[in-house]
Amino acid sequence: MTAPLTLRTGPAGSRIAGVGSYLPRRVVTNEEMCTMIDSSDEWIQQRTGIVERRWAGDDEPLSYMVTEASRKAIAQAQVDTDDIDAVIVASVTHLKATPALAPIVAAELGLKDPAAYDISAACAGFCYALAQADALIRTGSAKNVLIVGAERLSDLTDKSDRSTAFLFADGAGAAVVVGSDTPGVGPVVWGSDGTQADVITQTEDFRDAVPAGRMPTVYMDGKPVFRWATTFIADAARDILTQTGIEPEQLDVFIPHQANNRITDSMLRHLKLPDHVVVARSIKYFGNTSASSIPIAMDELLTSGEAHSGQTALIIGFGAGLVYAGQVVVLP
Ligand code: UT7
Repeated sequence: MTAPLTLRTGPAGSRIAGVGSYLPRRVVTNEEMCTMIDSSDEWIQQRTGIVERRWAGDDEPLSYMVTEASRKAIAQAQVDTDDIDAVIVASVTHLKATPALAPIVAAELGLKDPAAYDISAACAGFCYALAQADALIRTGSAKNVLIVGAERLSDLTDKSDRSTAFLFADGAGAAVVVGSDTPGVGPVVWGSDGTQADVITQTEDFRDAVPAGRMPTVYMDGKPVFRWATTFIADAARDILTQTGIEPEQLDVFIPHQANNRITDSMLRHLKLPDHVVVARSIKYFGNTSASSIPIAMDELLTSGEAHSGQTALIIGFGAGLVYAGQVVVLP
């Protein structure tokens, strides 16, 4: 007879206990951008809402940005580093296939023997990581999980490509997720459409590019992505509210992936969110930072006082894959 396996169980729910972010020092204004591409400050602002973005310097590698953001999230969560037993880093710009970034930053943070791994889910990466952290905690596989979205998109951006150069930027955002008898992370709504894999993709793989002295860069066909985001993803955002049992009137904050203010505006119209809902617009100063954009925006809203601990926020990420994910969360 097969021996019965003992299973673990965890608390009923999880919640975000702390959030933190790191933005590179170098500010790249639209004016500077227009020395690299044929564009204008007016066009960039009108079409995207971006005024400036940050690009990381040589002294700000991905691991540094991750540890800086993580330290702030851990401090706010007031969780002992010895008690963090899993680390998930979401990134598409960690340029080594192995080892993953998560175990490296876990060691730099002085964590003791945590499970540590990376995930690649582009601009949905933070919400994917949050879904995993929530599941790990509720099934008893981890008690306290550090999740991070971190990108150095400037490494993989063709600075002369007028369809992407002004958009992509660098930064990191982290959160500590802990167990909670009162759920602070709602059910994830997520999915993918690989038939559209070629609308945001690397121009070539590293094996071809590097021997020829090149770096691959990110190619994006913006129009179909825009269409998908303002139709299918807007529906998915509504589905998140429905599945969480939250009416638009009960929502306090909306933090969509910071891809384009026009996408955010379109989602707002689609969701019919009431005027009192605070809407993240950090793309204005930080551009599109892919997996980092949601935690950076969350941290900014909390730090500026525009949003408050205990408020209910809808978050949704979407991007290359195509992939998407989102949840309703209670802010730390
Ligand atoms: O993070 C992952 C998810 N990503 C997204 O969600 C991005 C979704 N896509 C977008 O946000 C938009 O498609 C972009 C911001 C990337 C581009 O905006 P758009 O309104 O779709 O521009 P377009 O490519 O349709 O071009 C419109 C016009 C064209 O001129 P004509 O043909 O109308 O005369 C372009 O040549 O704007 C011109 N244009 C530019 N002009 C100044 C295109 N790029 C530029 C530029 N500066 N950089």
